[in-house]
Amino acid sequence: MTSTVEQLQSKFSQALVAAFGEDFATTDPMVVEATNPKFGDYQCNIAMSLTKPLKSNPRAIATQIIDHLSLDEICETPEIAGPGFINLRLKTNYLETQLQQMLGDERLNIPKVIPPQGIIVDFSSPNIAKEMHVGHLRSTIIGDCIARILEFRGHEVLRLNHVGDWGTQFGMLITYLRSVYPEALTTADALDLGDLVEFYRQAKVRFDQDETFKETSRQEVVRLQAGAEDSRRAWQLLCEQSRREFQLIYNDLDIKLTERGESFYNSFLAQIVEELDKIGLLVENQGAKCVFLEGFTNKEGEPLPLIVQKSDGGYNYATTDLAALRHRIETEKATRIIYVTDAGQSNHFMQVWQVAKRAGWIPENVELVHVAFGIVKGEDGKKLKTRSGETVRLRELLDEAVNYAKTDLENRIKEEGRTETEEFINQATQVVGLSAVKYADLSQNRTSDYIFSFDKMLSLQGNTAPYLLYAYVRIQGISRKGNIDWQQLGIDVKVVLETEAECVLAKHLLQLQDVLKEVSEDLFPNRLCQYLFELSQKFNQFYEQCEVVKAEEPQRTSRLALCDLTARTLKLGLSLLGIPVLERM
Ligand code: ARG
Repeated sequence: MTSTVEQLQSKFSQALVAAFGEDFATTDPMVVEATNPKFGDYQCNIAMSLTKPLKSNPRAIATQIIDHLSLDEICETPEIAGPGFINLRLKTNYLETQLQQMLGDERLNIPKVIPPQGIIVDFSSPNIAKEMHVGHLRSTIIGDCIARILEFRGHEVLRLNHVGDWGTQFGMLITYLRSVYPEALTTADALDLGDLVEFYRQAKVRFDQDETFKETSRQEVVRLQAGAEDSRRAWQLLCEQSRREFQLIYNDLDIKLTERGESFYNSFLAQIVEELDKIGLLVENQGAKCVFLEGFTNKEGEPLPLIVQKSDGGYNYATTDLAALRHRIETEKATRIIYVTDAGQSNHFMQVWQVAKRAGWIPENVELVHVAFGIVKGEDGKKLKTRSGETVRLRELLDEAVNYAKTDLENRIKEEGRTETEEFINQATQVVGLSAVKYADLSQNRTSDYIFSFDKMLSLQGNTAPYLLYAYVRIQGISRKGNIDWQQLGIDVKVVLETEAECVLAKHLLQLQDVLKEVSEDLFPNRLCQYLFELSQKFNQFYEQCEVVKAEEPQRTSRLALCDLTARTLKLGLSLLGIPVLERM
């Protein structure tokens, strides 16, 4: 079903044509949520911007629009205010019918987009033989949420894990392991990721100090790229080792991803360079092959090159991204490609895309988006580090969140004199702990840095996962106390809205569709968090002010229906953030 704003917009579009002619058929009628609920629910701001083309004053224009408007089923009589705003107030009857329709629909009346778009979300993308860090955690959480929302809207989404599984680091690592721990290169499970990271660190030290080692490492990369049996085997073992560890984190966080790492594009790299040469974009610069960029200069103001093949013949991150881009467009037929990485990689993408565009590889209908995010900081405001100053391991961070949640819950259980099984406690705290981490990340405007605080994210007050989970639990509590079976409520429930609190909640319930549309366009998940937070607040106000289980009919059933719709909206909304609900907590 079309959302309320969409319905209003189309009514206004019709009125514009009826009043001023076909020239105005494509004019955006500028219907938005009211800036102040005192004046209504929505407002139309178009009159002010038509004064020039119509050579008339905005209030007169507004009157003319209203004369041609037929909104009787949706709104009370529109009112003109100030310079020419048209204020709209939804009819209670309209709200009631809309909610009734929502009740009977599994998707809460939110239609799928037709036709669906082929979209790739490139997210998480950690590097093999390195620890996944908090930056990858952000990418994982934000990317997954965006993918979930786009999928729910009906798009065909390919979730790609562009893991760093290729390049010089493998030559270095294999060479090092060959001398200190050769079993690791021939036997599965000879190392865990922690060991691997440590060996990587040692190998890097050696690489930076020892010229011979450096040279052997380079030759090793060449052997690997040429497909030498033993190098391939060693590389595969190292990848599997890392992959298994990454998968544990994905399992905990309920993340689904298709791994298609840098190595996948290896066979396309030479061709990328060749084609850039054919098109005439390639320039040789101190032995390296590169494309000079427009609008990017060095300190001296000279144009900056994007290197696509190093002087030793090796390719790099940018070359792989060029190949990936072509594959995604030509083979996968994606028309929207979304990259979720920290803001620090913004230039990299701008440069790669510029070269791809100039090469003519990006058709008009393809949209490339960098979903950039800020860094995660500790409570001291500096980049998140362990107490001893090392980078925080993801595994430990997630475990700590669950432990914090556990302490919280156990304290609460004691205070409330409840008895709970160990199994319940473990399951609930796993959900609360991990959800808190996800929500803390998603509820921030992703472009800003955010401060990681277990205390804040696990608080039952404020814009947090526990607050939202608790609102859901509260509603489940109502049904338990009142012995209510939501399924039994039936679809022919009559919704009757009497009080202000009911109407406020009802209006909010109808807005999820618009919020999801907005997030799928702008890719800011915090908008959905804000919506769900406000929904919980509005529900709590309603529940404080209105009797539900003890109310008389027909209010009782109607209010139960409002509870049910709130719970279902919360559950759906949270699921799109990658957060499951709990029946009790
Ligand atoms: N592996 C990279 C990193 O850890 C992120 C890859 C992002 N995706 C891409 N297509 N470049 O920084």
